[in-house]
Amino acid sequence: MRVLGLLSGTSADGIDVALAQIDGAPPRLRARIENFLTLPFPPPVRRAILRAGEGRPAPASEISRLNFLLGELFAEAALAACRRFRVPLAKIGLIGSHGQTIHHQGRPARFLGRPIAATLQIGEPAVIAARTGVPTVADFRPADVACGGQGAPLVPFVDFLLYRHAERGRVALNIGGIANLTVIPAGARERDVFAFDTGPGNMLIDALASRYSGGRRAFDVGARLAARGRPLRSVLSRLLAEAYFRRQPPKTAGREEYGRAYVARLLRMASGARAEDVLATATLLTPLSIVDALHRFVFPRARVDDLIVSGGGASNPLILAQLEAGLGRVRLRRAEEFGVPGDAKEAFAFAVLAYQTWHRRPANVPQATGARVPAILGKVVYPCRGNH
Ligand SMILES: Nc1ncnc2c1ncn2[C@@H]1O[C@H](COP(=O)(O)OP(=O)(O)O)[C@@H](O)[C@H]1O
Ligand SMILES: [Mg+2]
Repeated sequence: MRVLGLLSGTSADGIDVALAQIDGAPPRLRARIENFLTLPFPPPVRRAILRAGEGRPAPASEISRLNFLLGELFAEAALAACRRFRVPLAKIGLIGSHGQTIHHQGRPARFLGRPIAATLQIGEPAVIAARTGVPTVADFRPADVACGGQGAPLVPFVDFLLYRHAERGRVALNIGGIANLTVIPAGARERDVFAFDTGPGNMLIDALASRYSGGRRAFDVGARLAARGRPLRSVLSRLLAEAYFRRQPPKTAGREEYGRAYVARLLRMASGARAEDVLATATLLTPLSIVDALHRFVFPRARVDDLIVSGGGASNPLILAQLEAGLGRVRLRRAEEFGVPGDAKEAFAFAVLAYQTWHRRPANVPQATGARVPAILGKVVYPCRGNH
């Protein structure tokens, strides 16, 4: 079956589209990527998404309209990808659309007298199915939350598929807006896999780069600004001492933890410092907190031979250099070596998850999300009759 995976991550930089060819069933599920592209969001759309995701009060009408607008944009991305890949839509059997997270709170907190966990991804799948004529699976996270999980991370199912090895212990590290990792011990079965969000990935860097450029830059390309600065050691050690990094996995983070309020606090701590020094500090926080998480939560439980990096942060030379310096004997490798390009992995993953759902099979990894049981993820939307 050919499946398109659609996703926009917490960075809200654009829509990733992956075309996958998938067949079989676990433990003999085979999936390979055929093609991939990213379509950047128009800047006003990105700003609207970030506004909605910052937890500022927004009327239901705005969220509702954004949901349908993003549905159109995701559908256009799917159509554009098929044209670019020269694959007729009729050959696409299924679409898996992660959508855009605008709220994620994986752990229950009291709300109107009850402990409630909640997650919301938008990008209306009914629009995607109607425009493409292809059945669409979307809204993957709520089923896991309903089973007591944090609804994230969901990529570990695919990390296990791609990276398991009889003799080598592996960690898949994705540095998106948030950084997360999946541990696949040597000879692991699925129940030996565990995963969690280590903390910030590119989210703080992007916010600062945008701020210091008066909104002209969405990120610090090649870490050029950060490379000119010196990290503020005392700020860095205060940030690294914070509670999130000490909390036992499973754990998830998002814009709720590392969004606007966090950036404001970082700026207060660094008040009077030069822009490039603050950026250098935020840039180093990512690899240092990742290495810290490896030492605290991973190395005591599993031998690690390879660290496989993916996500936009793998293009940040400062992050990579600092990671490499902190890894000791662990080999730093790129996702490309394993068949799925690092920028494409998450979109590819949602193609695979949709395929599982279509066949009524679960795809959460309970040790990764904290769910009590395996869950079939997502909701299936069928296209309108006769529109193709
Ligand atoms: N050449 C580069 N130099 C520095 N940072 C980069 C580069 N390319 C991508 N990035 C970073 O990667 C981010 C996008 O990463 P991505 O994996 O798409 O995250 P998400 O899954 O949250 O959307 C950008 O916002 C930017 O911070
Ligand atoms: Mg992205």
